[in-house]
Amino acid sequence: MNKRILDKNDENNYYRASKKFKTSKFKPNVSKFNFLEHYSKHFKDSNNLLKLQKEVMRKKFVRLNSSIIKEEHLTQLFKKSYRTSLKKTNISNCYEIEKSHFSLSGSFPILSGVSYLQDYPSQIPLYSIDYSKFSTNSTLKIIDMCSSPGSKLTQLSNVIFEQIVQGNLKKEIKIEIISNEISKERFLKLVNNVQKQFSTFNKNTTIEFIQLDALNLHKIKHFKENFDIVLLDAPCSGNFLQERNWFNKRDKKGVLRNSQIQKQLLEVAKEICSKNGVIVYSTCSMEIEENEENVIYAQKNLKLVTTKIENNFMKSFAYPIQSIEILKNIENKKLIQHSIRIHSPYSKTQAFFVNVFKK
Ligand SMILES: C[S@@+](CC[C@H](N)C(=O)[O-])C[C@H]1O[C@@H](n2cnc3c(N)ncnc32)[C@H](O)[C@@H]1O
Repeated sequence: MNKRILDKNDENNYYRASKKFKTSKFKPNVSKFNFLEHYSKHFKDSNNLLKLQKEVMRKKFVRLNSSIIKEEHLTQLFKKSYRTSLKKTNISNCYEIEKSHFSLSGSFPILSGVSYLQDYPSQIPLYSIDYSKFSTNSTLKIIDMCSSPGSKLTQLSNVIFEQIVQGNLKKEIKIEIISNEISKERFLKLVNNVQKQFSTFNKNTTIEFIQLDALNLHKIKHFKENFDIVLLDAPCSGNFLQERNWFNKRDKKGVLRNSQIQKQLLEVAKEICSKNGVIVYSTCSMEIEENEENVIYAQKNLKLVTTKIENNFMKSFAYPIQSIEILKNIENKKLIQHSIRIHSPYSKTQAFFVNVFKK
């Protein structure tokens, strides 16, 4: 893998993070919105809500890099060296850590790059892409618009390996990745994480790290309609199953501001996506404004088209929309028929949302 970290003088074409998103015209009616009450209603009652929070927060998952270690070797390694059992999930290479007496973040299997601690639903977006679409490509151009800490970026190396083995991509395909992250601290974390997982990228892969405001990416001339795969794992409000004091930190105004920025990021994603390319939009927010509403917006206003995710294991996520209380008031349910919402009361995992668009 060739890595190159761009600095600000590298190319005149690259913009530094500069333009702040304007929110002045945006005055949502947010008075008295109570998230706790809102979710208590949708999750039956507040006892269930806290029970679910406890259950989900306890769960930990690890992703195996099958390009460098076999499943049985990894499970043995965890068992013998760390007295830790792994349980297979329905996502390829994703294991639940059943019992562990150690904190695994500093353990050999993690530091050496043979595995990576990554939540279960966060492993879904890369499996929602139909890679066979690019079976004749000699080069695959990918951009990760909001990259840090690099979970999906590092997972990509293994997913591409699998796709080559399955014959969906050419063996000799060149992979050109642009990895972008706005935050300086998170940028360093990203580069560090990718370095740890260095061995998982094959020699035909190049990664350029850039530190820009993703809202400006379309201004880079050679980025226009350039990428086959655009990953937009958008900055979002997160959810109460991730952060203990989420209810105290967040308000509706913040959710609506995020929703606006996400719409703008989708617009940029459209501009840099090639004619035959795909945009994978994902968030770990539970809010309709950051998920379904944006999918509807992208179809109506940006003329993006949602695509059906053709993957057998994805069928297990196809919950009937009607049964999800939160979505009952959405009028045009047809427009969100291809979206995947990982609904925590059903999955007993972190919440997640994924939608794949084409132009
Ligand atoms: C949900 S996280 C991305 C997680 C990452 N894709 C992964 O799989 O590990 C969103 C990231 O976007 C970054 N971010 C927020 N606003 C941004 C912007 N305007 N441009 C680029 N990155 C941004 C945040 O700092 C954060 O690291």
